[in-house]
Amino acid sequence: MEAKLSVNRQNTISKIDKRLYGSFIEHLGRAVYDGIYEPEHKNADADGFRKDVKEVVAELNVPLIRYPGGNFVSGYKWEDGIGPKETRPKKLDLAWRSLETNQVGIHEFAKWAKEVNAEVNMAVNLGTRGIQEAVECLEYCNFEGGTYWSELRKKNGEEKPFNIKTWSLGNEMDGPWQIGHKTADEYGRLAAETAKAMKLVDDSIELVVCGSSTSTMPTFGDWERIVLEHTYDYVDYLSLHCYYGNKEDDLGNYLAQSLDMDRFIKTVVSICDYVKVKKGSKKQINLSFDEWNIWYHSNDQDKEQAPWQVAPPLLEDIYNFEDALMLGCLLITLLKNVDRVKIACLAQLVNVIAPIMTEKNGDTWKQTIFYPFMQVSNYGRGTVLTSHITSESYKTKDFDEVPYIETIAIHNEEKEELVIFAVNRSEDTSIAFTFEEDGFEMESISEATELAGYDKKDTNESNHELVTLSIKTDVVLENDIISTTMKPLSWNVIRIKAK
Ligand code: AHR
Repeated sequence: MEAKLSVNRQNTISKIDKRLYGSFIEHLGRAVYDGIYEPEHKNADADGFRKDVKEVVAELNVPLIRYPGGNFVSGYKWEDGIGPKETRPKKLDLAWRSLETNQVGIHEFAKWAKEVNAEVNMAVNLGTRGIQEAVECLEYCNFEGGTYWSELRKKNGEEKPFNIKTWSLGNEMDGPWQIGHKTADEYGRLAAETAKAMKLVDDSIELVVCGSSTSTMPTFGDWERIVLEHTYDYVDYLSLHCYYGNKEDDLGNYLAQSLDMDRFIKTVVSICDYVKVKKGSKKQINLSFDEWNIWYHSNDQDKEQAPWQVAPPLLEDIYNFEDALMLGCLLITLLKNVDRVKIACLAQLVNVIAPIMTEKNGDTWKQTIFYPFMQVSNYGRGTVLTSHITSESYKTKDFDEVPYIETIAIHNEEKEELVIFAVNRSEDTSIAFTFEEDGFEMESISEATELAGYDKKDTNESNHELVTLSIKTDVVLENDIISTTMKPLSWNVIRIKAK
């Protein structure tokens, strides 16, 4: 089988907003407690955060981390997480039926995020709370001084404002499971008034309003339209959430689900633009895909967890090789839509549906999905080139035409580099792949790697990272054409020095 990718320097989709490679840490399971924060661990720093975990997080180069939820935020009182740790209350977390000790709050998390070189995307509670608490939280975080909340921040040890720029107006408010679930009109009104007040406190912030929890929600479409009709003038981004899984053990169909992500994005873009026209607005609403990943392996085991534990092992999906390929397809899909998707958060980062796992008192290790995310986050910077792809296709239960090859090319102007990301979805056939460009001068291959040759169900575990990258040795640059073979079921990254 053959496939060809062609690009032209003049033909681009958009520059990549670095926040496309964001992630997410929720007060859920072992993400915070016994994840990033474990004061008794031998590698803990003076604040109780694990240095070994910080090092692995830094490898992923995530520029933005959404916090503190997720479903958790809809019952959260941010004030419980400030002040002396010994006086912070222990509370019920109703979202995950766990116990929240509040030993980590805004101060601790903001400091940790800075240390891993990330900004915070702070979510406010629009489930059980409202405008006043959101505005106070923003004043506490971003106001210079001289007011009750900004002085309290100083008293609690932070002289300078945290200066948090990206804020989320609640979480999945369309979902009946959400604490304080609302209709689109109820949420739209509250989000608009909260957004308006927040921008009066600090007009430099950017606001994300909740879209649907998934594209299969019965209210999908109407929810976006109604919420935007209320909030259009006050918000900057509309959120999308989606999780995939090979629930029917049908690999061809599973790997095709990135086409569903593409369709979801394009549909939401149309709704944003419909409301724009309806309002006669000049403003464009962009998208924040602030929860995306694979989530299905842990569903059954989670039902067995007893309630009201501190840091129970929830949502601890162990990812296999096919999940890494799927993650690669999803990343390429996000890149194809960077003209409108400006923010995206891989949900989540540590222990909870995560690329990074930790053991209590033990090691940290990388899941299979760590590798495609790490590569795209580090090398997928710059401008996405419009791809012209020729590839044979296959048909699945849910999709009529699925290209065997999923691929994209990026131009990193700063590094003078062209980068190709590609997945071969075929289970049994290699693809003779060629890459042609117009307008560049390709000099040499700087690096070529693959994730290939594993059993589709192979997983990594602590002290045994079976699925890792290997060097691709067959990439050739000749007569201005790159050629290589992409193995069946493979994730491929080729970096080319190019002027
Ligand atoms: O990421 C896990 C959960 O998935 C989040 O808390 C929620 O927003 C979504 O349903």
